[in-house]
Amino acid sequence: MTEDETVQDDGATPGRTVHRPVLFQEVLDALSPEAGGIYVDGTLGGGGHSLAIADRVGPKGLVISIDRDAAALDRVEARLAREPSANRGTVRMAQSNYADFPAVLELLGVEKVNGFLLDLGLSSDQLADRTRGFSFNADGDLDLRFDATEGEPAWQLLARLSAEEIADVIFRYGEERFSRRIAREIVRRRGERPIRKASQLAEICRKAIPTPPGRDRQRIDPATRTFQALRIAVNDELGSLERFLRRAPDRLLPGGKIAIISFHSLEDRIVKTAFRDTPGLEVLTRKPIEAGQTEQQENPRARSAKLRVARRIL
Ligand SMILES: C[S@@+](CC[C@H](N)C(=O)[O-])C[C@H]1O[C@@H](n2cnc3c(N)ncnc32)[C@H](O)[C@@H]1O
Repeated sequence: MTEDETVQDDGATPGRTVHRPVLFQEVLDALSPEAGGIYVDGTLGGGGHSLAIADRVGPKGLVISIDRDAAALDRVEARLAREPSANRGTVRMAQSNYADFPAVLELLGVEKVNGFLLDLGLSSDQLADRTRGFSFNADGDLDLRFDATEGEPAWQLLARLSAEEIADVIFRYGEERFSRRIAREIVRRRGERPIRKASQLAEICRKAIPTPPGRDRQRIDPATRTFQALRIAVNDELGSLERFLRRAPDRLLPGGKIAIISFHSLEDRIVKTAFRDTPGLEVLTRKPIEAGQTEQQENPRARSAKLRVARRIL
C-alpha cells in the first residue's frame, strides 16, 4: 500500500498550517496523556497532535516537539503566539531528526518520558509548498528533503545513479512494479536535459506507466510510488524509524507508551516487528487502528493511516 497524496494544494499561508492531524482522537485515547507528564512528539508538522497533548498534560506538563523541517517549527511558533492558553503545558521545540531525540532530551535534562508519538511521512504544509518538490505538478526543484541542509536532493540522486540503481530505489521504497521502465525513461530523458523539476519527473512516470485496460486513467497518480520512493531514500526515512525504535523503549517510564502512525506497508512492517520483538514492550494494538469512514472521506491522507501502540511493562 502507498500513501495517498491526493491532498488538495491549498497554498499554505505563512504562519498557518493546512495540515489536518489524522486519527486525532485515537492518538489521544492511545497515549492518554497524564497531567504533569512529559511527552515527545517526534513529528511536529502543523502542531495538531503536539498542542492537543500539551492541553492534556496541563501547565505542569511538558511536550518536546521535534521536526526536521525548520518551516514546521516556525509555523507552530507563530501558532502558539496566536493561540495562547493558560492551561497548556510547556512546548519545547527542536529541529532534529526524531531518531536523535536522546540528544534533545539531554539538552533539556530529561531522562525518561511518559510517551512518544510519531506521525510519519510528510505534512500537507510540505505538499502545499510548491518550491520543494513534494507536489507533483509544481515547478519547484525536485528536492524532497525534510531538512534542506542535510543529504542530497532527489534531482541529484537521479543525476548520479545508474538505471539499475534508480530502479532498485523505486522498487524497494515505492513497491512500484514498473520501476525498470520508469528508470529507463529517466535515464533516457536525463541524456536530453537534466531532470530538475518535480513536474518533469511526474510527466516521465505518467508516460512510462501503462494505463490498465478498460480504464482511461489510474486510481492513483502514476507518479505517487516513485515520489514516495525518492522521498524515503533522500531522507533515509526507514533508517530513522529503525534507529528510533531501537532507542525509544529504554527512555520510557514504566507504563509509558509509544504510538506510531504509518502510511505505507514498509513503515508499518518495521513498527509491527519492532513492537513485537522488543523485550519489555507490550503490544496494545494487535491490529492497527485505522480511520473511520467519515475521517477517510473528509481527509484523503487518513485512508492509508495505521496507528500502532505499545506500552513499556517493566
Ligand atoms: C505527517 S506530518 C506530522 C503532522 C502532525 N502530527 C500534526 O498534527 O500536524 C510529518 C512531519 O514529520 C516530519 N518528519 C518526517 N521524518 C522526520 C524525522 N526523521 N525526524 C523529524 N521529523 C520528521 C516532517 O517534516 C513532517 O513535518
